[in-house]
Amino acid sequence: MAAIKYPSTPASISLRHHQTNMEASRSANAGRRQSEETLADVQASLERIVRLYNYGKPLFPRRLLKDLHEQISKGYERVSIPDWDDQPHTYSLKVPENCTKESDTYVINYSSIQRLTYFNPQLPKLLLEPPCPISIGYTRSPSHPGITLKEIHDAFKQIRRGWQDSETCSNLEGSFVQPRFWSSTITRIVAFGLGTLGKAEFGNVSVRSYAQHAAMLTMATILKEKRISKGQDVQCFAQDPWYDEKDVDFLRGLGITVVNDPEGFLMIDEHTLVFSVCPNIPVRQIVADVQWPAAIVWNSPLPEGQMNEWKSRLGNGEVFWTGPMMTDPDSERVCEMLRDYDGARLVDHGDYFGDLTVYARRVRS
Ligand SMILES: C[S@@+](CC[C@H](N)C(=O)[O-])C[C@H]1O[C@@H](n2cnc3c(N)ncnc32)[C@H](O)[C@@H]1O
Repeated sequence: MAAIKYPSTPASISLRHHQTNMEASRSANAGRRQSEETLADVQASLERIVRLYNYGKPLFPRRLLKDLHEQISKGYERVSIPDWDDQPHTYSLKVPENCTKESDTYVINYSSIQRLTYFNPQLPKLLLEPPCPISIGYTRSPSHPGITLKEIHDAFKQIRRGWQDSETCSNLEGSFVQPRFWSSTITRIVAFGLGTLGKAEFGNVSVRSYAQHAAMLTMATILKEKRISKGQDVQCFAQDPWYDEKDVDFLRGLGITVVNDPEGFLMIDEHTLVFSVCPNIPVRQIVADVQWPAAIVWNSPLPEGQMNEWKSRLGNGEVFWTGPMMTDPDSERVCEMLRDYDGARLVDHGDYFGDLTVYARRVRS
């Protein structure tokens, strides 16, 4: 069998750690360790996934997302989604009876390469199941109390004013400079995971979510003013499954169209700016597979040390390992895509985003 090339960037560091992890599990749980045979099968399965990934097999093919979007739009109660080996799996979009206690809606699960290759010492056989980068799960919608449309308007007015006066806003405006954006034409912004505006936790709305929507409008204005949209209006789309009807109404009034998962990914073209802040899904890895956009504004990569940190923890006398299982991790493919872009870090003392980088795609000659 050909030797596996483990990529050198964060995604694969976790892959290498799976081996370390497996060794750790073997010695720490000597009394209850899995049979060598099972571990050999698991190792073979892991190697197969890594090999396919290294060959460039997409986890999130555009045509698969398009097909899923069409099934959902047609109002089907059950959808069919192929696993990574192209075997179809059928899922109900209606919450099954046995899940109604803890869930009230379906959700599209996207599994990053880290998650697909995650070795759980307690459940090693999970790695013997067919890899499913896209599947359907069930969850509960956020239960925080809703606020009225007028309260949303008032909060937005106030927070937007603060945002516009902030140093972070000036820094963001200053990021769209020549020559980085010299020859780009950007006519669309598609945002992911900015959060709901219509809910208040302990009486407080999320200032970050409000400011991030205001920032989207700021970027749309800048792209037009600086003629990066070549005189066209910039269309704004936002995807977040937590939006409710009030969000949709309010955002429509601002000129932002809410799209359902997975339509946002299908809206991305070569004239799009993707804006994503701390989403709960692997937006980077999906974008890297679906379409490389003209520009990207999303969280800066974590320093190598933090990203790759695997820790052994002790619980009930057992050792277990926690690893780089963030919701939106980098990967070899994301790093490869970003090598095609020039990035400038955004200074955000106001903590409206955490740490962001503004990327512009380099001109191809
Ligand atoms: C940790 S919150 C971040 C909210 C906000 N951006 C912030 O920085 O405070 C993660 C957000 O990702 C959203 N999210 C989850 N699945 C998503 C999906 N499939 N598409 C877009 N957003 C998603 C969640 O609904 C939630 O609003």
